[in-house]
Amino acid sequence: MANVIVIGAQWGDEGKGKITDLLSDSADVVVRYQGGVNAGHTIVVKGQTFKLHLIPSGILYPDTECIIGSGTVIDPQVLITELDQLKELNISTDKLFISQTAHVTMPYHRLIDRAAEERRGNHKIGTTGRGIGPTYADKSERTGIRVLDLMDTQGLRDQLEWTINYKNVILEKLYNLPPLDPQDVIEEYLGYAERLRPYVVDASLKIYDAIQKRRNILFEGAQGTLLDLDHGTYPYVTSSNPVAGGACVGTGLGPTMIDRVIGVAKAYTTRVGEGPFPTELQDECGELLCSRGAEFGTTTGRKRRCGWFDAVIGRYAVRINGMDCLAITKLDVLDELAEIKVCVAYEIDGERCEDFPSSSRRFQQCRPIYKTLPGWQQSTSDCRSWEDLPTQAKDYLKFLAELMKVPIAIVSLGASRDQTIILEDPIHGPKRALLQADGTPVSLVNK
Ligand code: GDP
Ligand code: IMO
Ligand code: MG
Repeated sequence: MANVIVIGAQWGDEGKGKITDLLSDSADVVVRYQGGVNAGHTIVVKGQTFKLHLIPSGILYPDTECIIGSGTVIDPQVLITELDQLKELNISTDKLFISQTAHVTMPYHRLIDRAAEERRGNHKIGTTGRGIGPTYADKSERTGIRVLDLMDTQGLRDQLEWTINYKNVILEKLYNLPPLDPQDVIEEYLGYAERLRPYVVDASLKIYDAIQKRRNILFEGAQGTLLDLDHGTYPYVTSSNPVAGGACVGTGLGPTMIDRVIGVAKAYTTRVGEGPFPTELQDECGELLCSRGAEFGTTTGRKRRCGWFDAVIGRYAVRINGMDCLAITKLDVLDELAEIKVCVAYEIDGERCEDFPSSSRRFQQCRPIYKTLPGWQQSTSDCRSWEDLPTQAKDYLKFLAELMKVPIAIVSLGASRDQTIILEDPIHGPKRALLQADGTPVSLVNK
C-alpha cells in the first residue's frame, strides 16, 4: 500500500498527465487536490490523445476511482464538456466523484479575471483567463459558492441573487462591463447542478475510507512548484498550492498518510504567461525546443516560453516538496542538439547563488551560470531501457540527479505510455532520505 503525490517541479506542463496516467496502473484512487480548468493534462494512449482539465488523469482505467478534491475550483460548464467528450470516446466516468466542498467558478469570476488582467496592463500575470484567481479570492473572502451550495436549489437562489448583485457593482463600476442577470445565471447553474449531482460526495471521507482499506491513492498535482501561491515566483503564480503539502490541505488528509512524493520535470524548462525565467532562450535554440517539444498550451493554445534546464529551481522543488524521486520527461526533445546547457547556479549582483531566492526582486536579477554538456545527436524515442540510451544522454541524466541530489526513477522519451524507461520503482523504491554516506542519493544514475 502506498499513497503517492505527483507534483510538477517547474512552471507547469512538465508532463504530469502522462506520468499520472502511467502510475495510475497501480493506483486504486486518483485525486486532484488543487487548481481548476487552468490545468491541461495530456495523455496519449495507442495514438489517441486525451486532454483533461479537471478530471484526474487516472480516468482511462475503468476500475480506478477518480476524485476531484475540495482544494480544487470547479467550472461546471467545462467539467460537463469534459464528461461529454469522455463519453463520446467510450471512457466511463461512473467512478468519478466530486467533493462537495470544492468551490465553483461562476461567470463573474471569468469576467473579472480577464478584465483585471487587461487593467493591469504591463503588470499583467498572463493568467489563463479561466476565473481561477477570482474563484480562490472569493473562497478566502468567504463569499464563494461551493458544490454543496450548488446542490441546494433554494439556498443557491438566495445566495446568488445577493452575490451577483454585489459582483455587478464591480463589473459595472470598476470594469465598465454590462451587469449579469441573476436569474439567467441561477437557471444556468441549477441545470449544471442536476447534471453533476450524481457525482457529489464527501471526498475527504471517501479518501480516508480508501486508506483504511489499504488502497493505493495517487494525488495528482496541477500547475507546478514555481506557480505555487506561497512558494512560487509571486506574483506570477496561480492562486492555489500545487506543492506536495497542498495535497493534504486540498483533500482533508493528514500528512502522516503520505508515503512518497514524485516530482515531474522536463529535461529543459518551459513557462506560460508572464514572470521571470532566468534560463529562457529567445533565440533559435528556444524555437527548436518549442517546435520539437510542441510547446503550445493545452488550455489556451499559447506558445510556451522555452529555456535550458534550471537545477536551482530543481533543487528548490526537491526541498519544498520533500521529493523522493524524479520523472524526467521530454528527453527526446533534446535529441538533435550538439550541446546542452544546464543552469547549475545563479549570479546575483556579482555573487554566486546556489539556492532559489525567495525574494521576487532578487529572482528577477538572477543570471544563470551554465555548465555545457555534449549532446547525443541521435534519436532516443525508441529507447526502452537505460542500456539503450546514448552515453551522453545517460551522462546528462546523471548530472541532473547529482545536481539535485535526487534519484531519477522515470525517463520519458515521447508522449505515449510505452515511450518510458522505468529506472527504479518510483512507488516502492528507496526513499530519498536514504542518502549514501557521501550525501549522494541511492540511485540508479550511479550505474
Ligand atoms: P502537464 O500539464 O504537466 O500534464 O503537461 P501537458 O500535458 O500540458 O504538456 C506536456 C506535453 O508533452 C503533452 O503534449 C504531452 O503529450 C507531451 N509529452 C509528455 N511526455 C513527453 C515526452 O517524454 N516526450 C515528448 N516529446 N512529449 C511528451
Ligand atoms: P498544468 O496543470 C502551465 C499559469 C498561467 C499564468 C499563471 C496564473 O497544465 O501544468 P491562472 O489562470 O492559474 O490564474 O494563471 O499560471 N498556469 C499554468 N502554466 N501549466 C498550467 O497547468 C498552468 N495553470 C496556470 O499561464 O502564468
Ligand atoms: Mg499542462
